[in-house]
Amino acid sequence: MRISVAIDGPAGAGKSTIAKLVAKRFNLMYINTGSMYRAVALAAKENNIDENKIEDLCKLIDTMDMEFRDDDLFLNGENIQDKITMPEISVIVSKYAAIKEVREKLVKLQREMSRKFDVIMDGRDIGTVVLKDSKFKFFLTATAEARAERRYKELKMRGLDVDYDTILEDIIKRDYYDSHREVDPLRKAEDAIEIDSTNLSIFEVTEKISSIIEKNL
Ligand code: DC
Repeated sequence: MRISVAIDGPAGAGKSTIAKLVAKRFNLMYINTGSMYRAVALAAKENNIDENKIEDLCKLIDTMDMEFRDDDLFLNGENIQDKITMPEISVIVSKYAAIKEVREKLVKLQREMSRKFDVIMDGRDIGTVVLKDSKFKFFLTATAEARAERRYKELKMRGLDVDYDTILEDIIKRDYYDSHREVDPLRKAEDAIEIDSTNLSIFEVTEKISSIIEKNL
């Protein structure tokens, strides 16, 4: 039987860092579903397709070949990881992620990946929609301030000129948008284990998740 692990939570809760570590430990493919929504936003921006042109967006998605290699997302053979994490994509991505037709297409792709590989997926609707039947579901949280601080440090380390208050504002705005949208809003699956990472190290959260998986494999 295939293994699938779902990790949901708001932006900056540490999902991707932790998912990558757990993936290495259990030899799972790491699928960052947020990157897939970001790829759609990037391609839409480059092709001047705004969020109201749903038919054009669907056609565009059908031309997008998305593949994860060593934790990076490749779009039609090009590594787009750096492009999709830029702040200009962060500020527009929620609009595209709120579109029902876009979500249906990406959820279908994500489920196909989970049928082909042992996966750990992170996102907003993994435990509630994409991998509803998964045995391992986690919901990671942290205060908005702690999450903004982490994002700020991460972007600074990559040499980007960013400002903490702008990042905090973006995180609060996205939290609201992601958990209040009509289609598949961010929420904890009833059977997910909630972990508040505000005062926990990456190592501690990874250990917590890994030991639960180990016990139940
Ligand atoms: O995790 P992230 O910040 O890279 O996510 C980018 C956007 O995509 C964010 O607005 C939430 C949205 N998203 C979503 O709606 N569903 C997912 N499964 C993953 C991300």
